[in-house]
Amino acid sequence: MLISRRTLLQAGTIAGVTTAAGWPARIALGNTARIRIGAMMPFTGTYAALGEAGVNGLKLALEMHGNKLGGREVEIVTLDDEAEPSRAPANATRLIKSDAVDVLFGTVHSGVAMGMVKVARETGTLLVIPNAGAGPATGPMCAPNIFRTSFTNWQPAFPMGKVAYDKGYRKIVSITWKYGAGEEAIAGFKEGFEALGGKVVKEITVPFPNVEFQANLAEIAALKPDAVFTFFAGGGAVKFVKDYAAAGLKDQIPLLGSGFLTEGTLEAQGAAAEGLLTTLHYADTLDIPANKSFREAYKKAFGKEADIYGVQGYDAGLMLIAGFNAVKGDTGAKAALYAAMEKATIDSPRGAMTFSPSHNPVQDIYLRQVRGGQNVVIGVAAPKLADPARGCKMPA
Ligand code: BEZ
Repeated sequence: MLISRRTLLQAGTIAGVTTAAGWPARIALGNTARIRIGAMMPFTGTYAALGEAGVNGLKLALEMHGNKLGGREVEIVTLDDEAEPSRAPANATRLIKSDAVDVLFGTVHSGVAMGMVKVARETGTLLVIPNAGAGPATGPMCAPNIFRTSFTNWQPAFPMGKVAYDKGYRKIVSITWKYGAGEEAIAGFKEGFEALGGKVVKEITVPFPNVEFQANLAEIAALKPDAVFTFFAGGGAVKFVKDYAAAGLKDQIPLLGSGFLTEGTLEAQGAAAEGLLTTLHYADTLDIPANKSFREAYKKAFGKEADIYGVQGYDAGLMLIAGFNAVKGDTGAKAALYAAMEKATIDSPRGAMTFSPSHNPVQDIYLRQVRGGQNVVIGVAAPKLADPARGCKMPA
């Protein structure tokens, strides 16, 4: 079921032809043909593990439901987007035009996701975002055919503002990569923290995906804030947490993060991550049946522990199943398909998840602490939190 783009082309199994307008039309196979999902994710670079986990989650959900959407077989075509925004519109267009995918699934990096959003809006192709938190995707660029099963970058960061303030921190330094996700996460944290009277005294940024932090760590040590708030993920999160501890800062200046800091990274971070506090819409130890069965099945299928990226891919699969089952696999029944997806309540490993009118999850944001190499839930930092979706005017 999972095939790379090259294999698909070589096998000559494409069931699409190109219209005069240049966009593909499915040939006579109509609604009995396989539904094709174009998984455009990073499979190389600092976000490679995140891309793989997201596709694993999607595959797991589909396999648990007979590998069918609304009674039709499913095929996944993968494309490595390399977390490179400049190539995103061409890559998404290629999946739609040459590979005739019915659904775009992707991606991890906010900048790449915005390229996919542009193409989805132009072509009317259904896009499900299984990670990237770019606010505009469900803000000013929201659209009936664009859904997200993850978060906005604001969502997990904003509640940490109150957590930090309640801990007595008043002066905070932030550090992140200089691109949409990092900047939106810092803005979210700042909004929550400064509304209560705290102050972000310095915002440090490093170019994406740089992982040379020595000069920044020296600056943090000199500034002596009450705590540091950060957004890093994947390979960059591993390096930052290890460098922070190695610089001797861990026991002097508490490190707080949007929860990606410790997702899929704990084995590599080891003792350097122990005790870190983060906020996220998931925690390994959530004591609910959906999480237990998901984690067990994921480990059995892929031989590793699940993380948030696997959860979000899995939930994208469940959302597609709910939508396509409602229209019996009819890809042409767009309004009914989107209505069913919008109304779905997903039995997610993170807890029951519904969608806002802007098509973004409404979800609990948990306060977690790394204990014994796991993200342990220690409270709910913000129950049923919806993104404000500023600027979203959903067309009817
Ligand atoms: C983003 O680019 O939106 C992102 C990447 C990794 C983790 C979380 C968000």
